[in-house]
Parts: sequence; structure tokens; C-alpha cells
Amino acid sequence: MLFLLSMSKNLIIAIDGPAGSGKSTLAKNLAEKLNSVYVDTGAMYRAITYLALRNKIADDEAAVIKMTRGLNIKLQYKDGLTHVLVNGEEVTDFIRTAEVNAKVSDISRIPEVRAELVKIQRRMGEANTLVAEGRDVTTVVFPDAEIKIFLTADLDVRTERRLKEYREKGDSQITFEEVKTNLAERDKIDSGRAVSPLKKADDAFELDSTNISIGDELNIVLNKINKIKEKV
Ligand code: DC
Repeated sequence: MLFLLSMSKNLIIAIDGPAGSGKSTLAKNLAEKLNSVYVDTGAMYRAITYLALRNKIADDEAAVIKMTRGLNIKLQYKDGLTHVLVNGEEVTDFIRTAEVNAKVSDISRIPEVRAELVKIQRRMGEANTLVAEGRDVTTVVFPDAEIKIFLTADLDVRTERRLKEYREKGDSQITFEEVKTNLAERDKIDSGRAVSPLKKADDAFELDSTNISIGDELNIVLNKINKIKEKV
């Protein structure tokens, strides 16, 4: 299939949706197809959470804000994985643990933390054609993105996907119910928070990935992008 994308303009593709809906897979596939930068905003919230836990300040909001303001965060996408460097230290291997999963929604509720990370994300969008995914990239970070997608899937399907990731990483202990409870809890906090809650932007295209293959999903979105580009 030929895609008629002219990349002369700084195109921004923004994808929001709940945990496990497949945002990362879709975003990576799109970024590869379009040869653009991939911005995993969740990885940034995860890095802050990991450092807050490591420094034993995760329950001290003022300390987390102070720490966040002093950090230099860089994302580098390499070999299918977003590498996160904080003040030069690679924290990639530590940000997708059950401990971080259990705390990340609480840390992401802090407005000052969000403000810092949103600044960095917008800067990335100034110079690059990019695919960004998260909870607020269609509503807050890039409200003027050319393409906005709200990706969803049933909770049980999302749980299965995350469980598979845990198993692939060698965690044979965590159960379906534990993963499901964590996802449901994060959905609740992410959608209910006062600042930048997870919600569908009015002009976002909603895509339910419960029953479609990754390849079909990619084609649906690439077709949408082509249609939108033809109009611009
Ligand atoms: O996409 P993820 O599971 O890696 O995101 C981890 C958490 O980070 C998610 O539960 C909420 C938070 N997050 C956020 O608040 N805003 C974003 N743009 C991205 C993630």
C-alpha cells in the first residue's frame, strides 16, 4: 500500500487512551511507517515515579515537585523500546515494574509535575514530525495535532495484553486479577483527576482495538492520516 504523506510540514499525531489499549504498539508502528519521532509520555511519568520511589519521597508532593524541576529527561527510541535518560542515567529497565505501576497514577496527578513534563513534550513537537501517546496528548499537550486518536479496548483484553508483557519479562507470579485491578484503578485515577484527565477530545477519532489485529489497526489509522493530509 502506498501512503501519500508529504512530510514537509511538522505533522503531529497524538494518541490517548487507557492503560493497555495498545497505544504504544500503534504509536511505534506509525512512527516507523512515517519515519518520525516517537514520544512515549507515560515513560516520563514512570521515570519520575521510579526516582521518587527510589529516593523514598513518593508520598511527599513538595519533594517530588522539587525533584522533577531539577531533572533533565531525555527519551530515545531504539530497537522497539523507549529508553529514558534522567540526568544522564538510564532508568529504562526500572520504570515498568509492578511497584511503579502501583504508584504512577498518583504521581501523575500532581499539577506541577505535569506542567514540567508537558513543557518538555511540547519542545519535542516544535522541531519534529512526531507520534505522541499518553493520557492528555490530544487534549492538553498537542490540542492542535493534525491527527488525534482515542484508542480503547475491553478491560479483560487490556489485562491479557499487560499480563503477557509481565510473563515475557519473566514475572510468573503476578496474576490476571492483580493486573486487572491495577488497570481498573489506574483508569479510575487517570480519568477522574482534576488536572488533564484522560478523556476523548471532541475531535479525536475513537478506535476500539478489542477485536482488530495490530495490522488492521495500523491500516485504519494510516488511511485516516492520508485522508486528512489530502485535505490540508
Ligand atoms: O501509558 P503508560 O501506562 O506507560 O502510563 C503510565 C501512567 O502515566 C498512566 O497510568 C498515567 C500517567 N500518564 C499521564 O498521566 N499522562 C500521560 N500523558 C501519560 C501517562
